[in-house]
Amino acid sequence: MTEQRPTVYTTVEEIRAATADARGRGDGIVLVPTMGALHAGHRELVRSARELGQTVVVSIFVNPLQFGPSEDLDRYPRTLDADLDALAGLADLVFAPSVAEMYPDGAPTTRVAAGEVGSLYEGASRPGHFDGMLTVVAKLFGIVQPDVAVFGQKDAQQVFLVQRMVRDLNLPPRRVAVVDTVREADGLALSSRNRYLDEAERLAAVTLSAALTAAASAASRGADAALAAATTVIDAELAVKLDYLVVVDPATFLSVAADHHGSGLMLVAARVGTTRLIDNARITLD
Ligand code: PAF
Repeated sequence: MTEQRPTVYTTVEEIRAATADARGRGDGIVLVPTMGALHAGHRELVRSARELGQTVVVSIFVNPLQFGPSEDLDRYPRTLDADLDALAGLADLVFAPSVAEMYPDGAPTTRVAAGEVGSLYEGASRPGHFDGMLTVVAKLFGIVQPDVAVFGQKDAQQVFLVQRMVRDLNLPPRRVAVVDTVREADGLALSSRNRYLDEAERLAAVTLSAALTAAASAASRGADAALAAATTVIDAELAVKLDYLVVVDPATFLSVAADHHGSGLMLVAARVGTTRLIDNARITLD
């Protein structure tokens, strides 16, 4: 038997009415914000969402505000039909608005400012990215009013900033749930951008997760040793151009001192061909 596709709404008014109905029935609303081009990692987010509430809403919106002028907004994959198949039997409602529906007056004058952490790492390479991301997430939270929102650990800095925004601005949801990164068998983190990689680039792309594994093994000797181990792996693959490699304190998202002990999060970003990939892993520093 074929599983049922979710019901799709394209206007704010419609999704508000649908979520209000669900709330009226006593359902907890769980939102999974996405930009579409769904893969097994997204499906894992949606499966987790199912365990956290009764009505699962997936938003699919390629948000122009979070792309820089030289980034891949135009070529970002838009695959709504395949996305709805991928969500069949998993999600109840899909909110897939147009740009005009989300930004009827053009680019919004009021935006969320991501602050200091928003200007580091991904934010340093992609100025304005996190302000644009938080602005659309705040809008989605306002529209859907979820009890729980689900994000993937692969975008660790995004998760940190969303949790911070929810706390700082007292926005719904009451909980931001985080789901572990889903990986290919060789360790490559799933990403909608992996589809840009040709065969040779796909092989080289595993370097990011391999570097994180090497760092985790060296972490008992401290942050510098972990960074050195990861750098050695990345430098050995000429097709991978490192953007940043850093160990942050998961509590503050600021770079750790060399003598930091305990929990750390290693972040890596690199370009493989023309494709920019990110990954991260928790490491324990002694
Ligand atoms: O992670 C993403 O896909 C996007 O940044 C998000 C959270 C859907 C906001 O556009």
